[in-house]
Amino acid sequence: MSVSIDKTNSVVLSADHITKTIGAKNIVDNLSFDIHQGEIVGLLGPNGAGKTTTIRMIVGLIQMSKGDVKVCGHSVRHQFVKAIRHIGGIIENPEFYPYMSGFDNLKQYQRMSEGVTESRIHEVIKLVGLQDAIHKKVRAYSLGMRQRLGIAQALLHEPSILILDEPTNGLDPAGIREMRDYLKLIAREEGIAILVSSHLLSEMELMCSRVIVIQEGKLVTERSIGSEVQTDQVTISFRVNKTQPALEAVHQLNDVRVIGTDTNRSEIILQLKEEIIPQIIKILGDADVSIYRIEESKQSLEEEFLKWTGGNRIA
Ligand SMILES: Nc1ncnc2c1ncn2[C@@H]1O[C@H](COP(=O)(O)OP(=O)(O)OP(=O)(O)O)[C@@H](O)[C@H]1O
Ligand SMILES: [Mg+2]
Repeated sequence: MSVSIDKTNSVVLSADHITKTIGAKNIVDNLSFDIHQGEIVGLLGPNGAGKTTTIRMIVGLIQMSKGDVKVCGHSVRHQFVKAIRHIGGIIENPEFYPYMSGFDNLKQYQRMSEGVTESRIHEVIKLVGLQDAIHKKVRAYSLGMRQRLGIAQALLHEPSILILDEPTNGLDPAGIREMRDYLKLIAREEGIAILVSSHLLSEMELMCSRVIVIQEGKLVTERSIGSEVQTDQVTISFRVNKTQPALEAVHQLNDVRVIGTDTNRSEIILQLKEEIIPQIIKILGDADVSIYRIEESKQSLEEEFLKWTGGNRIA
């Protein structure tokens, strides 16, 4: 299932019904989503929702119980080496040699990887804004600088997608802002996709163009953010018997933006001019989709997020 902000951009990563079962429990349960070139996507959910587990499966740190992930068309399950080449990731705290400079750490990494040039090292240092500190020893780095050095390292082999698990954890407000600005810059300058996890909606709203919300391992909803609602447009949710065929049918219309899906409630959420609603009803009928309810949605994203996640444990 994909809700793309820009349907013209190519899919870089596609998660297809990924599941992780431990004991009798699915800690990640049938999760599917696509990530497109150039977008920053937030994987959002309360503590214990399954964000880290999802990311660990994508980067091959743990095996999937079911499903697969394709990265630039390569299967993580069956073509791991080809798939992982396109991923730059920081999953746990990046490890560096503290007694070496940031620069020497990157050089060390270069020696261990193929095809990383000296000029690429300078390029990534500039991208993460570490020019002034790069010859200092890593043990003198702040947490924010260390994180940025980690991102520089993850970018060295020119990945198509950068995957970061809670990159702002532990940073102070200035550090969080800095990280956000650098990630936006990287997405723009490198033209790559970024997937970041977080449990903070407020942070994701400032950083991401789209959020994938999960809870107890399941997809709750996908939402585009930051899009201004034009005054002649309304946000309408359609409760249907099957969301995927409904989305496919709606994609045929040009003047409709899919801004979300709510799998639990079997809803698709569209932004459109109200004159188009009869056309939507017709097109869904033609696609054999039954409509149970049509409602205007006026809630803020935060109210909805609290509703989806039960309103607990969200800072
Ligand atoms: N190896 C494991 N064995 C058993 N349960 C596990 C294992 N790894 C994770 N879990 C459980 O799976 C759930 C999801 O964990 P996960 O770390 O993926 O969540 P998260 O969304 O990253 O949470 P946080 O925001 O706290 O980082 C949690 O309930 C966790 O206790
Ligand atoms: Mg986690």
